Amino acid sequence: MISVQNLSKVYKLSAKKMKELKTSEGRKIAVSGVSFEARPGEIYGLLGPNGAGKTTTLRCIATLLKPTEGSVSVNGFDTVGEGEKVRGAIAFLTNEINLDPHFTPSYLFHFFGQLHGMTEEEIARRREELFTIFDIGGFADKKISELSTGMKQKAAIAVTLVHDPQVVIFDEPTSGLDILTARTVLDYLRELRDKGKTVVVSTHIMSEAEKLCDRIGILIGGKKVAEGTLQELLAETGTDDLEDAFFRLYKEYGEA
Ligand SMILES: Nc1ncnc2c1ncn2[C@@H]1O[C@H](COP(=O)(O)OP(=O)(O)OP(=O)(O)O)[C@@H](O)[C@H]1O
Ligand SMILES: [Mg+2]
Repeated sequence: MISVQNLSKVYKLSAKKMKELKTSEGRKIAVSGVSFEARPGEIYGLLGPNGAGKTTTLRCIATLLKPTEGSVSVNGFDTVGEGEKVRGAIAFLTNEINLDPHFTPSYLFHFFGQLHGMTEEEIARRREELFTIFDIGGFADKKISELSTGMKQKAAIAVTLVHDPQVVIFDEPTSGLDILTARTVLDYLRELRDKGKTVVVSTHIMSEAEKLCDRIGILIGGKKVAEGTLQELLAETGTDDLEDAFFRLYKEYGEA
């Protein structure tokens, strides 16, 4: 269970960043007053255009950023006061993967399993499961530096999920993946949901949100402007597909 309460995140901009963004404003409000809950057994999607605040929100949940205002809890643990407990309960996946290029998927999987306090037997069982699902066997003992982008992604996903966490947070789950790998990843997320895990994803791809998510929160300009099941969002906006619903909302809230 993830509970985000009135979350705001303001970035302070360095002089260099201000110049880069051609602004005299020293701060950027990335997320403003966002609340939502993601429950066990559901895939909750944050849908929004570039710069909407999706990654910032997910990084706050994953304890990588501290909220400027509001609070976030995961399975009842506060992300600021009980960060360690939160990190034990989650996997945070992103396409900006940084596996050490000198090591192999096998080595890293084992290393992170040990780091999470798993026994040799548990690591082996989990390895069998995940390396099969993500088809890693063929390159398990090659150095990360010798792998293709997709192979690195698959290895990173397996390594990040080694401890079988209750909560999975995935920023843009299919970004950079080919259609086969993307399908494998999305199917796996559904499987996790069906096992009762809490899954939160971000995406700007309408069809992905439509097909994958049980409930969707639409973020525009750092604010949550709508939330619901696909059917609820369509009813609320008087449209019959998510893309139309999104444009309707964007017209209303986007330019402000
Ligand atoms: N470290 C940072 N310093 C200053 N501003 C930032 C920083 N990180 C993000 N921002 C700004 O905060 C806003 C939200 O960014 P964020 O990365 O959360 O958006 P996003 O919805 O994930 O977008 P995308 O779809 O492009 O990934 C943007 O305007 C971005 O420029
Ligand atoms: Mg992002």
